Amino acid sequence: MFKDNLLKGKRILVTGGGTGLGKEMATHFAKHGAEIFICGRRENVLEETANELTKEYGAKVHFSTLDIRDSKDVDSYIQSIFDSGPLDGLVNNAAGNFISPTKDLSPKGFDAIANIVFHGTFYVTHAVGKRWIESNHKGSIISILATWVWTGSPYVVPSAMSKSGLNAMTQSLAAEWGQYGIKVNAIAPGPFPTKGAWERLNPNGEDGSVMGDHPMGRVGEMNELQNLATFLMADGCEYLTGQTIAIDGAQYLTGGGTFSNLSKLSEDDWEQMRNMIRSSNNKDKADR
Ligand code: HXC
Repeated sequence: MFKDNLLKGKRILVTGGGTGLGKEMATHFAKHGAEIFICGRRENVLEETANELTKEYGAKVHFSTLDIRDSKDVDSYIQSIFDSGPLDGLVNNAAGNFISPTKDLSPKGFDAIANIVFHGTFYVTHAVGKRWIESNHKGSIISILATWVWTGSPYVVPSAMSKSGLNAMTQSLAAEWGQYGIKVNAIAPGPFPTKGAWERLNPNGEDGSVMGDHPMGRVGEMNELQNLATFLMADGCEYLTGQTIAIDGAQYLTGGGTFSNLSKLSEDDWEQMRNMIRSSNNKDKADR
């Protein structure tokens, strides 16, 4: 889809880039020439991913352990990157989530998610953004959200609340930081199976059915998400900012529609429905 050198010369940080969606995006950026920074809580997976990307694409990949819940650690980590040169892109991918009836959540359970998603993502965005503004350097920010920012979602309330806050951050910072050439967007992926997310959100099954019927009858393919992230990270579409783009095969639109379940009807069912509706219409007409 893109030229191999599309992101050449760009330095991009992907939080939580050692595994899951973060690794997939980091891989695609590396494949297209970017220098990559990944951080997360587990050194072994970060190191493995860094080695893999270097071996596969000859990419320059730096990794560091970081818990984004600690604002001081975040600031020193971002400073250490900027000491060797500015970043050009940031992907706020690190997150935490698990399904649970909300009545069973403890305050610590709520905080575990809100501190990572809501607070941590702000700390990283702030630490990078203020350095871009100070040094008059342009940049692109992508936050990985979920379609719950528009619909809410039962059983993942701390995540839905936190990601909704980040949706507001995306819109607000696009308006506030546009004058500095900082592009702020978000991606709301539908079901893209990854080990970390599936173990916590779909612990019983493999097919994603716990997340509802899908209008396209399939989950997302990783290259679809990679292409969108790469497009948002590349130069050439600076006017696109403040947007949260769903990539979910219209799942959330379908789920939200009053008549979504009608997609299950057969041709025969429809014929029967049509006849019933016509018969009502005809009865009405006879009374006119
Ligand atoms: C109820 C739970 C729980 C569960 C943890 N807790 N898991 N409560 N049900 N399944 C509670 C604990 O009991 C504890 O509270 C509190 O949460 C903190 O738990 P810790 O394990 O000590 O927290 P911590 O080690 O900080 O781990 C954070 C975490 C964990 C969020 C709980 O799952 C994590 O590290 N996840 C990172 C990866 C991840 O979640 N990836 C999926 C992202 S998917 P008490 O009161 O008992 O001490 C995503 C969106 C996907 O974000 C969108 C798909 C459409």
